[in-house]
Amino acid sequence: MPQQTNRPDPVRIGVIGTGSMGAQHARNLAAGILGARLVALADPDEARVRQLGEELGVLHVYTDWRELLARDDVDAVVIAAPSPTRAEMVPAAAEAGKAIFCEKPAAVDAATARRIAGLLAETGVLYQMGFMRRFDPSYAHAHRRIREGAIGEPLLVRVSSREDAPAPTQVVRRATGMFVESSIHDFDLAEWLMNDRVVRVYAQGGYVYPEFNAPGDVDFVTASLTFSRGGLGLHDNARYSRYGYHIQTEVLGTEGALQIGYVHRDACVLLKRGQQAGDYVMDWLDRFRDAYRIEMQHFVDCVRFGRKPAIGIDAGIRALEIAEACLRSLKTGLPVEVAGGPGEM
Ligand SMILES: NC(=O)c1ccc[n+]([C@@H]2O[C@H](COP(=O)([O-])OP(=O)(O)OC[C@H]3O[C@@H](n4cnc5c(N)ncnc54)[C@H](O)[C@@H]3O)[C@@H](O)[C@H]2O)c1
Repeated sequence: MPQQTNRPDPVRIGVIGTGSMGAQHARNLAAGILGARLVALADPDEARVRQLGEELGVLHVYTDWRELLARDDVDAVVIAAPSPTRAEMVPAAAEAGKAIFCEKPAAVDAATARRIAGLLAETGVLYQMGFMRRFDPSYAHAHRRIREGAIGEPLLVRVSSREDAPAPTQVVRRATGMFVESSIHDFDLAEWLMNDRVVRVYAQGGYVYPEFNAPGDVDFVTASLTFSRGGLGLHDNARYSRYGYHIQTEVLGTEGALQIGYVHRDACVLLKRGQQAGDYVMDWLDRFRDAYRIEMQHFVDCVRFGRKPAIGIDAGIRALEIAEACLRSLKTGLPVEVAGGPGEM
């Protein structure tokens, strides 16, 4: 005899933007997220969206994202189109009553992100920010240990990001510069791990690959961070490291330190006379494969069971405020106070 359960229906999801990030989310939704059903895709690149639709068996594919939003059988959307589209796309999704998973950055600037936040509050739709590193098992573990007091009072954080290869020129030109597009992950991690607000930054930058850069952009940067309780942070980022993708973080506390991050793909090490060699993580999709899946499972669970996502748009605004302060510091050559004040974490 069939048994009744109280489990809510699967969440029907549409993915907007099927480039490298959106395709990964779509593949995860199609293959491995409990309680999710991928029902629609949208991307102006017709060949790309059709091909992904065929690969994943998704019947409804659109070149106009508004048609996807108009579907009554779409409960939630994953927004992974280029960052400048957020200003229009996120409010439209909220007004259509869809739950929203939004890739970073929340918008191209903090003012736009604040306007979006206002609209989200008015409509009351669920929103999750795509800061997936917080879901990476190593980062989540470190965060838990810090909160348990394993390293005492956190004093200093080092957050380092290096891209294995430059993004294609057209992607870089559509993007919003290194601080907003890339360092934003590290700014979010820095505050999250230190459990404190950044109040001042001093940033520097330079460039060596003009062929990969948008005009006026930089491709290697540093930022020195001052936290409200006196803690300090150091961030560095390079668009093209040449040796591989490398994300590394360290938090020093009064009782110890935590080092987070690895570069090996697996635990296989080749030993030869005078040499030791291991495999290397390919890129961001490879290194954060689990994190992308876990953050999406979290989103789907929140929609299904009416929970508040662990990362909201406030985190996206905050990281943008730090990125904007870094941009001003880079321009003026001076330390800059971060907008938004010390505030609550
Ligand atoms: N969380 C992360 O680690 C991470 C990693 C990569 C990218 N991202 C973010 O994801 C977004 C996409 O980045 P990407 O690397 O996939 O770029 P991409 O260039 O590979 O893909 C973007 C896709 O969006 C499509 N597109 C353009 N305009 C659109 C519109 N109006 N509606 C729908 N689709 C549109 C393009 O045709 C393309 O297929 C960016 O905002 C980026 O910052 C996040």
